[in-house]
Order: sequence, then structure tokens, then C-alpha cells
Amino acid sequence: MASIEITDLVKTFHDRAGRPTRVLDGIDLTISGETFVSVVGPSGSGKTTLLNIVSGIESLTSGSVRLRAGDRDAHVGYVFQDPRLLPWRTVMQNIGFVQRDRSGWEERAHHYLDLVGLAELGDRFPAQLSGGQQQRIGIARAFSVEPDVLLMDEPFSHLDAMTSRSLREHLERIWLESRRTVMFVTHDVTEAVQLSDRIVVLAPGGRIHEIIDVDLPRPRRASDQAVAALQAEVLARFEVLEAV
Ligand SMILES: Nc1ncnc2c1ncn2[C@@H]1O[C@H](COP(=O)(O)OP(=O)(O)O)[C@@H](O)[C@H]1O
Ligand SMILES: [Mg+2]
Repeated sequence: MASIEITDLVKTFHDRAGRPTRVLDGIDLTISGETFVSVVGPSGSGKTTLLNIVSGIESLTSGSVRLRAGDRDAHVGYVFQDPRLLPWRTVMQNIGFVQRDRSGWEERAHHYLDLVGLAELGDRFPAQLSGGQQQRIGIARAFSVEPDVLLMDEPFSHLDAMTSRSLREHLERIWLESRRTVMFVTHDVTEAVQLSDRIVVLAPGGRIHEIIDVDLPRPRRASDQAVAALQAEVLARFEVLEAV
């Protein structure tokens, strides 16, 4: 079983004059097992910094982060805000490029391309795909390495509302089929409610404001009444936070 353990995490950035700004202030959070956790918070509350520290892209100032899978370090996958496909490689070559374990990778690639509805597009180049299709490739690519832990930073925020709604459904389906430990950053509360088992709300200043358990049956649709009701409730709480 995989887990992300964040203990008393503090991050301070320094400006050019050396003045410190604390952007994460004592984050304690454990995510274990096949759990989908969203981190929501107003712009600037430290969501991306938190995810980058968890992934190892960014250093921490104090505290600790442990990513484990059983008795070894966890393998981590990352889905970025933009899909970051290599333009001179086909879809399949892009997926092949990131494989740590080459054995059977083509079968895994086909499997996840199929799950995001793009089984036919393996030979296309990124420029021949729409933005939504490219982001679906990014998701298939991340799942195809079968990571223990999957980190996603606002993967749908550059897409139009219809495309992002359809991608959320793809993501939920693929996650239900191949459960991972997921940490998903978004500023979109409705998206968080639809996808998550738990929602971590960050407050300005980089502290955890509250943690909300989402105990709704899956698959969920944005139009489900229980989903819509919880979305409205969490949104109301979130608006109070943004107004602070
Ligand atoms: N490399 C950096 N150097 C200095 N300040 C940074 C850097 N990255 C982020 N920040 C600051 O840290 C705060 C949190 O940023 P970020 O994690 O991007 O927030 P979010 O993703 O929630 O919008 C912001 O005030 C931002 O300006
Ligand atoms: Mg961000």
C-alpha cells in the first residue's frame, strides 16, 4: 500500500533582498492507500508549492515528506497543468519515452489510451490533437507507468468547461479501474467534490483550513443531486475563506 506522509512542513521563499515569505506553514497530512485527495485553496495559498515539494521538484525548508509503497520508496507520476508532450514524437513515442519498466509498456499504453477514449490516435503527433486530447494523452501517459502515487496540478484548468467535464469523467473511470494514491490540486471546488474521497482546504498563508470527507457513491456526475448539494455547501464555506 502506498502513502504520502507530510509532517510539519514549512516552506519559506526569499525575495531578492533576502526577505522571507512563509508560503506553507506547518502542513500535516497523511494520504494512504487507494485514496483520491484534492487540495483546494485560493490562488497563492501554496497548492503548487506543496505538490512540487511532495514530488521533489522543490526543496522544503523544514519538516518532512515521505512517499512509500510497502517497504520501498514509492514510484511517482505527475500530470502537469499543460500536457508537456514532445512535439516531434508521436503519441505512442511520447508514452514510451517515460517508461521506467520497458517490458510490456506498449500493452499498458494501449490499455490506458483506450480508457481515455483515444485508442486510435497512437500514431498522431501532438500538433494533430486538440488541447483536450493532448491532456487525455498526458493522463494516459501518467497512468501507463503504473505509479504508486499520482500527483496532478490543475490538469483541466486550461480547457473549456465541456472538455474539462468530460475529462473529469474519464479520470474518474480510469481511477476506478486502476486505483492509485492520488493528490490532485485544483482551485475548482466543484471538481474536487466530484473526484475526491477527501478535500484538503488550504487557507491563505499555507495552513490547512479544514479537511472534508466526501462519502458519495461512484461514479459521480456533476448533475447528481447529492453531488450538487455537497458542491454548493463546500463552495459556500470556500467563499467565506476567500473573503478573509
Ligand atoms: N519560486 C518562487 N519564489 C518566490 N515565491 C514563490 C515561488 N513560487 C511560488 N511563490 C509564492 O508562493 C506563494 C504560493 O504560490 P503557489 O504555490 O503557486 O500557490 P497556488 O498554486 O495555490 O496558486 C505565492 O505567494 C507565490 O507568489
Ligand atoms: Mg498553482
